[in-house]
Amino acid sequence: MALMEESVDGGLQLSESFSRRGDDEAREHLLAIPDDSNGHSNHGSRSTSRNDSQRRKSSSHVSIRNLVEPKNQLLKGISVEIKTGQIYCIIGPSGSGKSTFLRSINRLWEPPADSIFLDGEDIVNMNVLTVRRRIGMLFQSPMLFDGTVADNVRYGPSLQGKTLTDKEVIGYLEQADLDASFAQKSIIGLSVGQAQRVALARTLANKPEVLLLDEPTSALDPISTHHIEQSVMELKRSKGLTVIMVSHSFEQVKRIADYVCLIVAGELLEVFKPTELDTVTHPQAQEYLEAAQRH
Ligand SMILES: Nc1ncnc2c1ncn2[C@@H]1O[C@H](COP(=O)(O)OP(=O)(O)O)[C@@H](O)[C@H]1O
Ligand SMILES: [Mg+2]
Repeated sequence: MALMEESVDGGLQLSESFSRRGDDEAREHLLAIPDDSNGHSNHGSRSTSRNDSQRRKSSSHVSIRNLVEPKNQLLKGISVEIKTGQIYCIIGPSGSGKSTFLRSINRLWEPPADSIFLDGEDIVNMNVLTVRRRIGMLFQSPMLFDGTVADNVRYGPSLQGKTLTDKEVIGYLEQADLDASFAQKSIIGLSVGQAQRVALARTLANKPEVLLLDEPTSALDPISTHHIEQSVMELKRSKGLTVIMVSHSFEQVKRIADYVCLIVAGELLEVFKPTELDTVTHPQAQEYLEAAQRH
């Protein structure tokens, strides 16, 4: 199956904004993890305490305890409790480590042991595919497989030997704010905004308990942005999904966040509610917020 690397919207955003690393991440995140050169499975499982079929929950909490990236000091000891069923927005200047932080939560970047816990279990002790099913991710630009929208939505469950019915496919599309007519469309001809919603539906088909979003609307127009925001808020309301989203837009943060995490130079400076900006005390945090609100 070939990954579609050209834009579905006039050849612009997808090919330009995808670095090699992003491409690899998107493949990895689609749970297609290659075996290593020794022929060993690269699934990284030390133990799996529960399998997917035993799960009944739709939401989970994430504990982050003194998360460091020791080699380049990208993360300098981040600790935060992500409450179940809440939307956390991560903000901060470019190069602060926001994407590294997000990628560590589903092991696209491998965190040190004893740093990240999903419902109390260290994620590095879990099967990496299980981690990525339970903690779904959406990137800045959608990477879709060639074929129909339905083919894309069915992909994750098919890896587990499940074939989604047409009705189930349409259900996931609707969760991503797309109507049933999209199911049989080819992905060629979709706008980037529609493609991003298909990518969201594909992620939702894995029934994640936590959703990670890395600037998912930064390549989208305001209407497409609105669709994604609506979907995320509805997933929180109807399923109690836990959401962690990096956003470049403070206006967006004010619209959807329950909590805001400000990361500057690898440090988590403040966690606050967007309705309580006056609780922010760190001088660097105040400075950043003032600048963010002027834009
Ligand atoms: N694997 C890596 N090795 C070295 N430097 C990296 C790596 N990944 C990212 N960086 C650098 O680390 C900094 C933080 O990256 P990133 O997490 O992408 O920040 P943000 O998402 O806040 O812009 C950036 O300067 C980036 O270029
Ligand atoms: Mg980033």
